[in-house]
Amino acid sequence: MPRLVVISNRVAVPKARGVAGAQGGLAGALNSALKANGGIWFGWSGQETDKFTGSVNYVRSAEGVTTATIDLEKQDIEEYYNGYANSTLWPLFHYRIDLARYEREFAKGYERVNERIAESVLPLIEPDDQVWVHDYHMLPLAERLRSMGTENRIGFFLHTPWPPTNLFVSLPYHERLVRAMLHYDLLGFQNDTWLESFLHYCGKELGAEVHHETGAITFEGRTTYARAYPIGIDFDFFASKGETEDAAKAEKRLITSTRNRTAMIGVDRLDYSKGLPERLDGISRFFDRYPERVRDLVFIQIAPPSREDIGSYQDIRATLEQKAGQINGARSEVDLVPVRYVNRGYSQEELFGFYRASKIGLVTPLRDGMNLVAKEYIAAQDPADPGVLILSRFAGAAQQLDCDGEGALLINPHSSDDLAHNIAKALDMPLEERRMRHQNQLKSVREENIQRWTDNFVSDLASLAS
Ligand code: G6P
Repeated sequence: MPRLVVISNRVAVPKARGVAGAQGGLAGALNSALKANGGIWFGWSGQETDKFTGSVNYVRSAEGVTTATIDLEKQDIEEYYNGYANSTLWPLFHYRIDLARYEREFAKGYERVNERIAESVLPLIEPDDQVWVHDYHMLPLAERLRSMGTENRIGFFLHTPWPPTNLFVSLPYHERLVRAMLHYDLLGFQNDTWLESFLHYCGKELGAEVHHETGAITFEGRTTYARAYPIGIDFDFFASKGETEDAAKAEKRLITSTRNRTAMIGVDRLDYSKGLPERLDGISRFFDRYPERVRDLVFIQIAPPSREDIGSYQDIRATLEQKAGQINGARSEVDLVPVRYVNRGYSQEELFGFYRASKIGLVTPLRDGMNLVAKEYIAAQDPADPGVLILSRFAGAAQQLDCDGEGALLINPHSSDDLAHNIAKALDMPLEERRMRHQNQLKSVREENIQRWTDNFVSDLASLAS
């Protein structure tokens, strides 16, 4: 098995591990993939420097993963991370062209930082390594590496959705970006929906020859493969968290504090793609419809702040504070607060305990590449008395957790009525049905795990002809 060089913007540097914070699914998943396969994980340190030098900081974790990071200049962070990656591509890829900002400086900064990353990682790549690049921050990286002479196999995985062609073409110079992506040998997407959108774009806008069955895209004499690889969790690792004292303490803490009410939980980075205001509207609708049930339910929303320098993230935070305050103002009693809204992260152990203590899990994004919280919630349940997952049909995870209508309760997150109705259904669901639905989902979460995802991608990268 060749050594892996994984490249992503966000790297879980060992000292930061243990606290989930706002790290999102990518960092946790890659850490697991690398633990199993060995190799180097390269990316941005998250730190700012006055002058970019390209010097690399190495840290070796107890689990044998070596991280190699670089610091970026303020202007780089502004134009590449806050700018093009998170104010242009992120909203566009989540179908929010109303929030996308198209600024020339952002595009230039993105190109410059990709060039800098390519230059800095180049000396670390050995001839037999497989290079695996992740996410929308680095779409043009293979092109940069190729121009510097790299001949290694280079794969790419997109953790977010890929939007339909008629939305994607709102991006100025969209062609240039996709042409650059065709310098990868293999492009991975979370599911067939995003994959098909990408293939459609290549055929229609670039005039590439596209073979839908194999995912082969031939363009200007080169063939790239594009396929779906749904990401999973590190099941055994996450399950082992349930045996820790911290998990047991967290579970007890939640059960004690909610007394005889049902705990319903949501855990999301504070991001407008997660459908949090819509979720609170649905909960409010539930209380309007069933006022007598205010004493049955307590909703806990854990939402660590994310990308705080960006205006749209500041706006969503203000909206949520207002909505949570409104529900509590209208529905609280002296001894009862229906919504607990918490702006901080917790360790995986604590999250395990909170999930297990919550008889309803709410994962209701407006659009999401996959969503690993949904899978972790299922993994943390007690199979003898499991909770119910309410899941947005627009999360990638819905394709695995629907289980032919006998898995998660799928909802339309834009409809308050739909959410309210399904909260009532979850509260009243008989034990036998909860067990059956949980079993079906557990099978998928356990089998389609992170190891399988890594193996499938890495072996295709090695075997597909470029
Ligand atoms: C999503 C993205 C990741 C990103 C994570 C956290 O999961 O797909 O690439 O790392 O969010 O966001 P941040 O901007 O803090 O890295």
